[in-house]
Amino acid sequence: MNNALDIKNLLFKWNKKDGFSLKIKNLSIKRNKKVIMFGQSGSGKSTLLNLISGILSPVSGTIIIKDTITNNLSSNKKDLFRANNIGVIFQQFNILDYISPINNIMLPCFFTNFKKKNKKFFYNRAFNLATKLDLKRNILLQKNSSQLSVGQKQRIAIIRAVINKPFLIVADEPTSALDNKNKVNFLDLLVNICDTEKITLLMVSHDTSLKKYFDSYITLEKIVQK
Ligand SMILES: Nc1ncnc2c1ncn2[C@@H]1O[C@H](COP(=O)(O)OP(=O)(O)OP(=O)(O)O)[C@@H](O)[C@H]1O
Ligand SMILES: [Mg+2]
Repeated sequence: MNNALDIKNLLFKWNKKDGFSLKIKNLSIKRNKKVIMFGQSGSGKSTLLNLISGILSPVSGTIIIKDTITNNLSSNKKDLFRANNIGVIFQQFNILDYISPINNIMLPCFFTNFKKKNKKFFYNRAFNLATKLDLKRNILLQKNSSQLSVGQKQRIAIIRAVINKPFLIVADEPTSALDNKNKVNFLDLLVNICDTEKITLLMVSHDTSLKKYFDSYITLEKIVQK
């Protein structure tokens, strides 16, 4: 398996008359590569990431991740496949305020059979990753997450995306709300973790200055079929 992701003859339509449709003949991403995707607002970047993570389903075509045709899976199996193999980083990080930071990190584990596995292993992994990212234990153990700073939230979001040792991370403009210092921090952290843990990364952004952090870039408009 050379490719982490293979998309073939993909067609997606929003269920609206004359609604947006996305047509991609071929898109492949090699294993362990870090790729950034650019595209204008409304071009379908978030739609594509949601198709890749199985939150949306295509009308036709195939999406192959880790040798699995994911778009053929039942919705339960899709959720399980995502929880086990895909780390998702959302634009606004989507940290739930009413649960603790550590439980935010553990969310993907709650979808998998981690109770049967070694629960301690994942908690230790969370605290170890947090230490590496300069987040102290007592911050993770706070009752809820409403008082985290933006910088703390971004690090929690990265740890949550990698906690299950995913095969692929998809990140939807995660730096768009950050100031320059936090943006550089965020990318250093993310790229570093993907390199050390051999995770393939597909990130979407408007910001072409971020190219230098990635192995290659894709322009969505160039790969879609009219
Ligand atoms: N839930 C929805 N129902 C119908 N159409 C939608 C829905 N969500 C998005 N669209 C349409 O799909 C198209 C692509 O949207 P998408 O959010 O994928 O773009 P994007 O490239 O991520 O844009 P941005 O850079 O602004 O985030 C747009 O025309 C949008 O109006
Ligand atoms: Mg978007």
